[in-house]
Amino acid sequence: MLIRILPPSAVISSEITPEPTYYRRRDILARMGLGTAALLASGCGDAAAPATPAAAPAPGGLKIAKRSERAGGETVTPFETTSTYNNYYEFGTDKGDPARNAHSLRTRPWSVAVEGECEAPGRIDLDALIRPHALEERIYRHRCVEAWSIVVPWLGFPLADLLKRFKPTSKAKYVAFETLYDKEQMPLSRWSGLDLPYKEGLRIDEAMHPLSFMSVGMYGKVLPNQNGAPLRLTIPWKYGYKSIKSVVRIRFTEREPVTTWKQMAPQEYGFYSNVDPAVDHPRWSQATERRLGELFKRKTLPFNGYPEVAPLYAGLDPKKLY
Ligand code: MTE
Repeated sequence: MLIRILPPSAVISSEITPEPTYYRRRDILARMGLGTAALLASGCGDAAAPATPAAAPAPGGLKIAKRSERAGGETVTPFETTSTYNNYYEFGTDKGDPARNAHSLRTRPWSVAVEGECEAPGRIDLDALIRPHALEERIYRHRCVEAWSIVVPWLGFPLADLLKRFKPTSKAKYVAFETLYDKEQMPLSRWSGLDLPYKEGLRIDEAMHPLSFMSVGMYGKVLPNQNGAPLRLTIPWKYGYKSIKSVVRIRFTEREPVTTWKQMAPQEYGFYSNVDPAVDHPRWSQATERRLGELFKRKTLPFNGYPEVAPLYAGLDPKKLY
């Protein structure tokens, strides 16, 4: 089967139709200016933080450089939904569990270990990791393998910009990511059924694609813990489980890394996990999805509506891209 490439006009438009609430958030975002840096620097994403921290003036350093709206004229899902309906198994397996329990995650101090096939490995503090990057807002569709979806305005920076700083060598064919695993901060993790820490990976060219994004906030605010504070991957053309939360380790590898869901059930979850309505999950159809907040199901788009990534998979069998 060939990968179907839709004309860009079919799914990409530069305009989105935000909800009134979202317009208010846009104003907040504009007023924030450097505010995100303040929220990050003051650790508002930590245990004491409310789910919706207020914008505050920043000491300087970071700013939101640009916005790019790539959700194809769709309505942004309300923050109240995306911050209370989550998958973060370390904090419970029900959708409401992470919002109830992730307050125990301490997001400061936080550092990320960068290892493997690169010239500049090291452990880098969160501030040093984020500070060189101008934050931009990306409005992305997010399609879970369980066939529900949301549209989220993320705040962050291109993953490629981060990875290039560590100078991957020619042997770096893949990038592996790991989430924090701390049973004390994640007491429910013992019931997750997963072999933790949560692990994910991308081929290096996927990781370097301009759509691959490192999110540190959403809706103009710092990321809530349940959404993966203080930084998470956001890969919009893949099923949601590729978008690993609360990253503490990045490793450049020569071989395809182990990934959590493929390890748990290889017959159901693959390494690529590209959204493809033509390839069903063994137990349910992937042809349609339920956008949270909507009554009727909608058709799922190939690559979740980001056809510009199709060349990454030229010559590969889409059946193997699950
Ligand atoms: N990352 C970690 N560490 N643990 C998880 O359980 N769940 C994944 C992904 N990242 C998960 C994770 C799945 S299945 C999905 S659909 C998305 O996070 C959900 O992201 P959201 O809660 O921000 O919508």
